[in-house]
Amino acid sequence: MISIIIPTYNEKENIKKLIPRVFRVLEKAKIRGEVIIVDDNSPDGTAEEAEKLAKKFRVRVLKRKGKLGLSSAVLDGFRIASGDILGVMDADFSHPPEKIPEMLRYIRGSRESGYNMVIGSRKVKGGSIEDWPIKRKLISKGATVLARPITRIKDPMSGFFMIKKSVLRGAGLNPRGFKIALEIAVKGRHKGRITEIPIKFRDRRYGESKLGKKEIINYLLHLMKLYKYKITG
Ligand code: GDD
Ligand code: MN
Repeated sequence: MISIIIPTYNEKENIKKLIPRVFRVLEKAKIRGEVIIVDDNSPDGTAEEAEKLAKKFRVRVLKRKGKLGLSSAVLDGFRIASGDILGVMDADFSHPPEKIPEMLRYIRGSRESGYNMVIGSRKVKGGSIEDWPIKRKLISKGATVLARPITRIKDPMSGFFMIKKSVLRGAGLNPRGFKIALEIAVKGRHKGRITEIPIKFRDRRYGESKLGKKEIINYLLHLMKLYKYKITG
């Protein structure tokens, strides 16, 4: 079974539409799955909306006390997930749920044991970033370049990915910051079996991004820790 973790902060309007769409995709591809919404006490009532949807769909809602950060939300979601395969996506339609079945095929793999991590990537052939302002593209580019010495993944900044749960075993992941895929790529037990598949990333329509100055500084601190980890093990 697959557990899809969706961290939320003020995403009421988005999840109302996203959750039914995710389940349409799963049903059509005959995939057994659950969605876990990890909400940080959103003032707009996202958690209540998710609970309403849970009456109709296989959705669980993890309610946290306050805004504790994106990576830590994902890790808390992993902790309560029932699936042996874990997916992560944003709530704001930037990540096309239609890609989930394809990602899963790479994980299950007909050959060998499949991949241990699949990344929805904007930086491989066929991938793209649509309607992001130049400023945001530059920040993303800079962040990616800085991560190059520690990973050969083309889009380690992506927030859309899937892993086998076994990748997390004993990895001791750091819950700080925004870039949990990078953290997993560096420390996870994936044995290098990582692949990237193209996605068309679209900017959100409702609400606003939570990536501000604070997250940029957080990222640099996170990166320093990962460099150190790479060097000293
Ligand atoms: N629970 C919780 N707590 N959720 C959060 C928090 C938090 O502190 N901060 C953000 N989120 C949720 C948002 O509600 C959204 O569903 C998702 O995490 C991503 O946040 P956005 O605010 O939409 O981020 P972004 O669009 O600027 O950046 C996204 O795309 C980038 C490019 O792929 C993220 O996925 C980045 O990690 C990614 O690099
Ligand atoms: Mn977004």
